Amino acid sequence: MRNPKGRAQPNDLSVGDMAQRAGVAVSTLHFYEAEGLIQSWRTSANHRRYDRRMLRRVAVIRVAQGLGIPLAEVGKMLEKVPMEGAVRKGHWSDASEAWRGALEARIAKLQALRDQLDHCIGCGCLSLENCPLYNPNDSLGEAGPGARRL
Ligand code: FES
Repeated sequence: MRNPKGRAQPNDLSVGDMAQRAGVAVSTLHFYEAEGLIQSWRTSANHRRYDRRMLRRVAVIRVAQGLGIPLAEVGKMLEKVPMEGAVRKGHWSDASEAWRGALEARIAKLQALRDQLDHCIGCGCLSLENCPLYNPNDSLGEAGPGARRL
């Protein structure tokens, strides 16, 4: 992509500077870019340059990954924050609000797993009928016993 701002900005970062500031490998930046999570532009010498605002996006991605949140989910949240033009605080607030429900659902699932794990560690039965860890969301079991997909 050509420079969306029309001319080089003195604060734009080279890929090496961006990687160092963000605390990730250059290859990670390339991967995030290929996934559409961040973007760069090219100088006339075909060198990548990153707007400094991409640092915040990378920080959000890293925190989310540390929490085990899939990149696809992070990407949906980041869609609410424009990559070009003015980014207002409201963009991040909207993104955060849109993400809240998904995060709360994830927290509830993890708490349920923790509570069930306490029980299953002492039990160890791994019963197809009773163990929600071994047979989570047994939707086919609700239709009755026996094979349901034949
Ligand atoms: S191991 Fe027995 S209920 Fe999960």
